[in-house]
Amino acid sequence: MFALRELCRRYSGGGADFELWVPALTLKAGELVVLKGVSGSGKSTLLDILALVSRPDRAAYFRFTPGPGRGADAAQLWRDGQLDTLSRLRGEHIGYILQTGGLLPFLTVRENIGLPCRLLGRPQFRAVPELAERLGISRQLDKFPAQLSVGERQRAAIARALVHRPNVVLADEPTASVDPLNAAAILQVLLDLVERFGTTTVIASHDWQGVAGLQSLEFRLERDGPLIRASVGN
Ligand SMILES: Nc1ncnc2c1ncn2[C@@H]1O[C@H](COP(=O)(O)OP(=O)(O)OP(=O)(O)O)[C@@H](O)[C@H]1O
Ligand SMILES: [Mg+2]
Repeated sequence: MFALRELCRRYSGGGADFELWVPALTLKAGELVVLKGVSGSGKSTLLDILALVSRPDRAAYFRFTPGPGRGADAAQLWRDGQLDTLSRLRGEHIGYILQTGGLLPFLTVRENIGLPCRLLGRPQFRAVPELAERLGISRQLDKFPAQLSVGERQRAAIARALVHRPNVVLADEPTASVDPLNAAAILQVLLDLVERFGTTTVIASHDWQGVAGLQSLEFRLERDGPLIRASVGN
């Protein structure tokens, strides 16, 4: 699904530079992996790269292969500034659960969750109420995001990321603002997708207990003067 080699993303400024360095990273279709690392170690930075949202500063190789024979050279697409192609690949194949939610305030929860299907011109039928039921937000569907609790908003954002049944789900701290019971339900929804549809799933998580036993990738940090270098790979 993803193959990265010698990829780097650097943030400079404020006297505290940060560099994410990926010597080599491969994620196969149907694989589930948890990103582990302390706060500020680059988990969200890596997810942004995988989601084709953030441009790597350098990449010897970066291939995204969402289906048979449909591999895309993401390194080249970024170099050529092919933003439309990148955003089409993202919209069709990737469900991204952002750490900060990102629901549209002027749409109801139902409309927010159904949005990816609408944008792709696909009818959603039962997917919205089904996901809402599983995530315990059925009663919130006709409210606006501002009328929801933080944890309910997070669950709505999760439903929205999954509704078009993407090949890849990237989840940034999906259980951060919910109680343990809802955290377990969220994790179960993600695990079911892996099991039933072979969805490739990457979860950044602080909830070490919830994700114990799952395959993980750890970020290693090293200090080089004012620069923090984080590296991750497999
Ligand atoms: N847009 C940005 N501009 C400058 N620095 C940034 C930017 N985004 C992130 N950083 C820095 O990059 C480093 C990694 O950030 P990142 O958000 O990837 O960490 P994280 O592992 O997701 O942390 P957390 O667990 O707190 O979510 C941090 O030191 C952060 O300050
Ligand atoms: Mg983060």
